[in-house]
Amino acid sequence: MGRGQPGPTGDKRDRTGLGTTGTDRAGDNQDRVGDNWDRAGAVGKENRSGEPGRGVAAAVPDCRFPRQRHRDRVPVPVPVLSRPAAMLLLRAVAGRRLPPLMQLPRRYSRLAAGSAAPGGHRGAAPVLAALLGLGAVLAYGERRRRTAQAAQATPAPQYPRYTRAEVAQHRTPNDRVWVTYGTEVFDVTDFVELHPGGPDKILLAAGGALEPFWALYAVHSQPHVLELLRDYKVGELSPEDAAKPTGDTEDPFAGDPPRHPALRVNSLKPFNAEPPPELLTQSFLTPNELFFTRNHLPVPSVEPGSYRLRVEGPGGRGLSLSLAELRQRFPKHEVTATLQCAGNRRSEMSRVRPVKGLAWDIGAISTARWGGARLRDVLLAAGLGDKTGEDGEWHVCFEGLDVDASGTPYGASIPLKRALSADAEVLLAYEMNGQELPRDHGFPVRVLVPGVVGARSVKWLRSVVVSPSESPSHWQQNDYKGFCPSVDWDSVDFSSAPAIQELPVQSAITEPRPGAAVPAGEITVKGYAWSGGGREVVRVDVSLDGGRSWRVAELGPRPARGRGWAWALWELRAPVAAGTRLDIVCKAVDSSYNVQPDSVAPIWNLRGVLSNAWHRVPVTVTR
Ligand code: MTE
Repeated sequence: MGRGQPGPTGDKRDRTGLGTTGTDRAGDNQDRVGDNWDRAGAVGKENRSGEPGRGVAAAVPDCRFPRQRHRDRVPVPVPVLSRPAAMLLLRAVAGRRLPPLMQLPRRYSRLAAGSAAPGGHRGAAPVLAALLGLGAVLAYGERRRRTAQAAQATPAPQYPRYTRAEVAQHRTPNDRVWVTYGTEVFDVTDFVELHPGGPDKILLAAGGALEPFWALYAVHSQPHVLELLRDYKVGELSPEDAAKPTGDTEDPFAGDPPRHPALRVNSLKPFNAEPPPELLTQSFLTPNELFFTRNHLPVPSVEPGSYRLRVEGPGGRGLSLSLAELRQRFPKHEVTATLQCAGNRRSEMSRVRPVKGLAWDIGAISTARWGGARLRDVLLAAGLGDKTGEDGEWHVCFEGLDVDASGTPYGASIPLKRALSADAEVLLAYEMNGQELPRDHGFPVRVLVPGVVGARSVKWLRSVVVSPSESPSHWQQNDYKGFCPSVDWDSVDFSSAPAIQELPVQSAITEPRPGAAVPAGEITVKGYAWSGGGREVVRVDVSLDGGRSWRVAELGPRPARGRGWAWALWELRAPVAAGTRLDIVCKAVDSSYNVQPDSVAPIWNLRGVLSNAWHRVPVTVTR
């Protein structure tokens, strides 16, 4: 089959345009939301929510989101109806709930719901427009009905057979991009630009099997992803090739370490989990087994005997260090520091409006005593201590040994000034709570940047590079940045915002849990509070009545030495009367008198980062 040749349905538009693929998916969504017209028209946005079963972008691995706009493959003429006119007409024709085949695809329903189209008509014009719209609706419904009937009447289509060698000839958009899954052959050329992980990622599989790539991103193993792929089917593998294995389909996460069963798992592959709130504040130092884990990729397996850390800078200066050299050549420095993910408490943000990312509760934060070499000492030993800022801000870029399907490692950077500062205590850590680093937390060496968002504390460290530019990594450039609540996935410009470094003041209630019934008498409220940049928490205020009146919580003991890198655990005891409903709220104040915002909506952002509004826990007091 040649370039752009249609599949067995004969009409390529049938696979890509009105009446089937693209529009059908919208139609399916519409079917699911029934006659919820207010949400109509949100195909693109809903797909971007990353919620399972919501279309293409549900296949987006966390932290990797496409910048490209969601494009319709075939332009569709759009009739303009006012919402009441559309409702009246549709109800008159089809009853209150339209049968699925008659329901509007979203692109129509948005306009039907009255959202302004350029030059949209109101007044007398809507009647004509409505009739036109009705015509389009009827035509659309009729077309879908006929397609459905035809599908019922027609026996399963016979697809042409291809060898793997033939499939391998289709590797570029010019030659068409073909892939196989199981024994089926797909022409995904039209999907390449729409791929949520970016065109470059899907092109890695061009001309071959999808399995090895899907195995890396477990998010693909959802029925709707396969359903979507089916729209692009153009053939079957020849019987002799169908019988052969597809190559290396080994699960790249198979080598991940065992984990503690108490962890609340937000995603298994890659592994992301947090300790349950009640355990989080059981002890000042979080046990290694319960420390929250944030992995973007499979955990690399590192042989400590052959591990080497590359340290590089301008003018060819640098070092290569074995683990033993790192331990022996540099004094061991210890820091008690809290690590918090930028996405901690994201689930509260997504209750305001959907955001992209893992639904962390309040546990993407933990504290440990870290031991290792100071990054400053290593940089000075490598002769890289002379760039202190006269010629602009320099950076230290880190790369991990964990790589994605294209071989790209996790990476991030911090300003060189911080790395060289003795006060900032940035570590190349090899110990966590007196033990060697656990595999999930970066064995054998990780960066530990106290007071800074967890994303910069690169695990499984393979290189440290002093550079005039920030890390080019996706996670430095196109993620972990904050935006105005009005910025959405259509308008976001990641280059316009600085990468998050120091985090804002934060606190949360770990006990009691939301919705709990507590006995009358005395209530004990517990939680944590922390602020970025070493700004110590000086006070935690707690309210039992939603913020109308406040009490000061008691702060637990903290390390005497050093800056405020670690959290404060706090507790408040207060009398409570039977039969009352409490709206418990906490807010912390740091040493710069920074406070938390009182509500989530004004700090909402599309990635759900920096979620630090007052934490609220409603409970009832039993008799
Ligand atoms: N380093 C590497 N190499 N790979 C990663 O996925 N995740 C980062 C950071 N360092 C990550 C990484 C993020 S986003 C966070 S919040 C912290 O590691 C989490 O560290 P932890 O898993 O030890 O809690």
